[in-house]
Amino acid sequence: MRLGVNIDHVATIRETRGTSYPDPIEAALLAESAGADGITCHIRVDRRHIKERDIKILREVVKTHLNVECSLNKEIGAFLKTVKPDWVCIVPERSEEITTEGGLDLMKVSEEVDNATREFKSSGIKVTLFIEPDSKAVELSSKLGADAVELNTGSWCENPTLNKFRKIEEATQVGITLGLEVHAGHGLNLQNVGYIVEIEEISELNIGHSIIARSLMVGIERAVSEMKERILLGV
Ligand code: PXP
Repeated sequence: MRLGVNIDHVATIRETRGTSYPDPIEAALLAESAGADGITCHIRVDRRHIKERDIKILREVVKTHLNVECSLNKEIGAFLKTVKPDWVCIVPERSEEITTEGGLDLMKVSEEVDNATREFKSSGIKVTLFIEPDSKAVELSSKLGADAVELNTGSWCENPTLNKFRKIEEATQVGITLGLEVHAGHGLNLQNVGYIVEIEEISELNIGHSIIARSLMVGIERAVSEMKERILLGV
């Protein structure tokens, strides 16, 4: 199971003062040297953390794989097609939200997702759709041509009931049966990640806030290697 380290919040700290530090590029390089299997970032319409400059440089220096989260915004889509990250993960975005609040409502935006997926794939970029752990949403993602789904673990992390866990398991099985890669993320930390690791068919976890928060105390290399170790060992 790969660990994608989301470095958005290094840029969040930079943007609170408009300085050139801390640099998410440096964080990405340190995360990779500590064992991260991929680097993830989210370019938001309001550019509250990651900016074009970051993604251009990350594209040059990331040696593992670069995964960029974005909404269906056309200007950002056009930019990403020129930079060509390895993966794009399409997420819903609301300007007032503190963080991504849920998965895509694919019934509502199927046409836009279909078009965006086609365009990214024709530029050689693999596409993940960030969805709720729901079998129907996984089936629709497959129909829309996604290479992978990322299952939103946020609701389970906030209130970890068995029922919610079963839904993540079920959605994973549906994805695997349909030939999709299954990723998961949102709200994962050292305390809860071990349970998700038990779903062995999940191939990638994307984790940001808890790793960057821990890195304030112990440094990003140790924060990443602790998370890698927990993913390897489980609960
Ligand atoms: N996956 C997606 C699609 C996200 O939007 C985010 C938050 O940017 C994450 C994973 C990481 O979530 P967290 O910061 O809670 O680990």
